[in-house]
Amino acid sequence: MGTSRMFHIFVILGSAFMILLIIIYWDDVGASHLYLHTPVSPGPKIPHPPPQRQRPQSSRTPSFLSDIDAFVNQFLEPGTGEPTDPVPAEASNQSEKAEERYVPRREWKIHLTPVAPELRERQEQRRRLLQEMCANDSLVFPGKNRSFDDIPNKELDHLIVDDRHGIIYCYVPKVACSNWKRIMIVLSESLLQEGVPQRDPLAIPRDLVHNSSMHFTFNKFWKRYGKFAKHLMKVKLKKYTKFLFVRDPFVRLISAYRNKFELRNEDFYRRFAQVMLRRYANQPSPPASVDEAFAVGIHPSFSHFIQYLLDPLTEKEMPFNEHWRQVYRLCHPCQIDYDFIGHLETAEEDGEHLLRQLRVDNVVEFPTSNRNLTASSWEADWFSTVPVEARRELYKLYEPDFRLFGYDRPDSILNE
Ligand SMILES: *[C@@H]1O[C@H](CO)[C@@H](O)[C@H](O)[C@H]1NC(C)=O
Ligand SMILES: *[C@@H]1O[C@H](CO)[C@@H](O)[C@H](O)[C@H]1NC(C)=O
Ligand SMILES: *[C@@H]1O[C@H](CO)[C@@H](O)[C@H](O)[C@H]1NC(C)=O
Ligand SMILES: *[C@@H]1O[C@H](CO)[C@@H](O)[C@H](O)[C@H]1NC(C)=O
Ligand SMILES: *[C@@H]1O[C@H](CO)[C@@H](O)[C@H](O)[C@H]1NC(C)=O
Repeated sequence: MGTSRMFHIFVILGSAFMILLIIIYWDDVGASHLYLHTPVSPGPKIPHPPPQRQRPQSSRTPSFLSDIDAFVNQFLEPGTGEPTDPVPAEASNQSEKAEERYVPRREWKIHLTPVAPELRERQEQRRRLLQEMCANDSLVFPGKNRSFDDIPNKELDHLIVDDRHGIIYCYVPKVACSNWKRIMIVLSESLLQEGVPQRDPLAIPRDLVHNSSMHFTFNKFWKRYGKFAKHLMKVKLKKYTKFLFVRDPFVRLISAYRNKFELRNEDFYRRFAQVMLRRYANQPSPPASVDEAFAVGIHPSFSHFIQYLLDPLTEKEMPFNEHWRQVYRLCHPCQIDYDFIGHLETAEEDGEHLLRQLRVDNVVEFPTSNRNLTASSWEADWFSTVPVEARRELYKLYEPDFRLFGYDRPDSILNE
């Protein structure tokens, strides 16, 4: 009789305990649910998220909540410094506090159809090719063998970081970079319009898009994090989704020439066109301003531009301007394991795929471009004024970009 009574007491105590557990569990589900949906507090302009902004009731069942934290953290790196906050005084201490500082993200868009297999396969192929080429000793270029630690700080100025969504974008000028920079501004909420983050990429004024104060780039880490900079970069490179867009290297050069020398551009006229005219066009004293030059119909030809690129003097003075600097020098594709490689030739499909992969297609749309893009079919026309010997030298100069990113050697213009 005694044992059966004991048994009853056990059952009752057990049930009571279970009910208690359920109540606690339920409460925490509610709390963490609320927590995950806490609206993003005033955006990146806030220098330090207030310290009291912590996990509600995290003391009660720490393991359950920390599981959620771990889950969230997979997608969202702690916000170690938003793009526009002032340099904190105790900058080097920021990295330790990193875990305390993240901001919840918005809901993802639910997709009923999976990403098309051919798009996924395309990315697999591009990434595989890049890895193979980086490992292949038949392709040699300066800086290929160095480690990430050996890359000088100033060469990291094209990597834009968005801590809110865990994204790193390496921008390549002349490859839809304005549009992707706009998207990065929207995502990082670094532009406030009457106190509200600007949500429409196309509403961002052009001069702001390229203003470096709008973008948090890797080369700014040193100022903010001091000796922790390289370490933090490596952590972010490991956890964040990294992408870049490339295009046919010769077509990119044509596009750069059209944009900077066929259109009136005072800055480029003074810095580069005058040099080309003096060196290669028998113009010892070229017109002083771009307006004067256009008035008398003087501007460097495409052939002069190519001569300028091939001239050993050019790089002795300073590195190539970013508009024609090789992608391998801008983005370090053998040191950084890019998750997504877009091609301008397939920009729309790639753009849509990428926004989906980044899980931000609910936040921004890729702006469709209706501009007259430089087409590869014009290549033969443009290069017809360039001597074949110079074309081959130019290919050597840009060969790594061709091979790393899967652009065929343009035999038709190299074998004449
Ligand atoms: C953290 O910052 C304080 C001053 O704010 C400084 O004394 C301390 O050395 C820093 N800690 C580290 C690890 O840099
Ligand atoms: C390296 O690249 C060349 C030319 O693309 C190719 O023929 C060769 O098989 C590659 N080597 C390796 C080890 O992949
Ligand atoms: C890089 O390393 C390979 C062997 O691992 C070597 O053959 C090649 O010459 C090196 N390239 C440079 C630029 O140092
Ligand atoms: C960039 O923006 C900052 C402030 O937003 C401004 O002070 C600066 O003049 C701008 N630079 C250029 C080149 O427009
Ligand atoms: C694009 O521009 C070229 C000349 O630069 C012109 O021949 C061509 O017709 C234009 N195409 C469109 C669609 O505007």
